[in-house]
Amino acid sequence: MITDTFNRIHTYLRISLTDHCNLRCSYCMPGEDQVFAPSSRLMQTHEIIQLAGIFVKAGVTKIRLTGGEPLVRKDAGDVIMGLAQLPVSLSITTNATRIHEHIEVLEKAKVRSVNISLDTLDADKFSIITKRNYFHEVIRNISLLLARGFHVKVNVVMMKGVNDMEIPDFIRWTKNEPVHVRFIEFMPFDGNRWSSRQVITWQQILQKVSEHENVIALPTDAHDTAKTYTIPGHAGTFSVISTMSAPFCGSCNRMRLTADGKMKNCLFSTHETDLLQALRSGEDVEPLIHQCILTKEAMLGGQMNVPFAELDAATLRNRSMIAIGG
Ligand code: GTP
Ligand code: 5AD
Ligand code: SF4
Repeated sequence: MITDTFNRIHTYLRISLTDHCNLRCSYCMPGEDQVFAPSSRLMQTHEIIQLAGIFVKAGVTKIRLTGGEPLVRKDAGDVIMGLAQLPVSLSITTNATRIHEHIEVLEKAKVRSVNISLDTLDADKFSIITKRNYFHEVIRNISLLLARGFHVKVNVVMMKGVNDMEIPDFIRWTKNEPVHVRFIEFMPFDGNRWSSRQVITWQQILQKVSEHENVIALPTDAHDTAKTYTIPGHAGTFSVISTMSAPFCGSCNRMRLTADGKMKNCLFSTHETDLLQALRSGEDVEPLIHQCILTKEAMLGGQMNVPFAELDAATLRNRSMIAIGG
């Protein structure tokens, strides 16, 4: 078991396949001049599978693939099929622009649930947020996933004045389609010009929806990031992810592996352990995983009220979201 000093057992590994992306969302990627890691520094397919196998032997039961955009990696299909051989529940977080090219592989790998990043239901606004014109591909691919029976969660990063006015539109979407919309509190990372003034809190979101709908809370799993609600007569659900105003660090079971093979014990941790280098030099990797988890802090979420200057210094030592892998 991978246990930290607060007796939290870590069973969930998020693996970033690449720090590249075909979109350019400013909250995730600091600028158009983003420098991507050269491929020699990225984990090769066999290295990902080897490292994942070590985590699984140590107690991991759930693996999520992230990025950047995981499906822009040329050999994403090989990685998915390789990981599908491990005794884990395998899932992916993607911007959905390339789902149609990978849907058969996802089915073959028994991936049943796909989380999609989509912050607006307006095509023009999509182009402004992502600086690319893939809105219609994303909507088509969501329909494709639903038609093939996948469980689809849609991650919506809430930004005041940008997309908070679309909360009713997203809720209307869940009425007719079995999509599970998750409104996420905007989080600070290197270069994304976060400010607490831009955060819409989960209470504000819940209040907004409750003004017009009969909202019923659903039970959640102990390790869920989201609090989930149903509205009678709706095919889908909606959730809130309250990292900033009501952190859920106490029940954290998560670890991360960046695309360049560094382990992070927390989304906001600046400490990284180079597992790829250890693997390449023939070192025993498993003890390094346990050592890394023993340095995990109690709580790094919930920084809503940290003075901006202090927060900025800490987030500057962390990476941007695209380089961490979400
Ligand atoms: P499920 O497995 O479907 O529950 O997905 P998930 O929420 O674990 O993963 P996803 O990639 O869809 O992440 C959605 C959002 O959850 C991210 O934008 C973050 O806001 C939040 N999140 C994911 N992992 C962490 C974490 O380790 N810590 C914190 N504080 N937030 C996280
Ligand atoms: N704040 C909150 N969520 C973010 N994501 C990316 N950047 C941020 C941020 N700054 C979300 C995306 C993606 C998930 C892995 O993380 O919506 O779906
Ligand atoms: Fe790319 Fe996802 Fe970041 Fe947008 S949120 S830039 S789609 S990795």
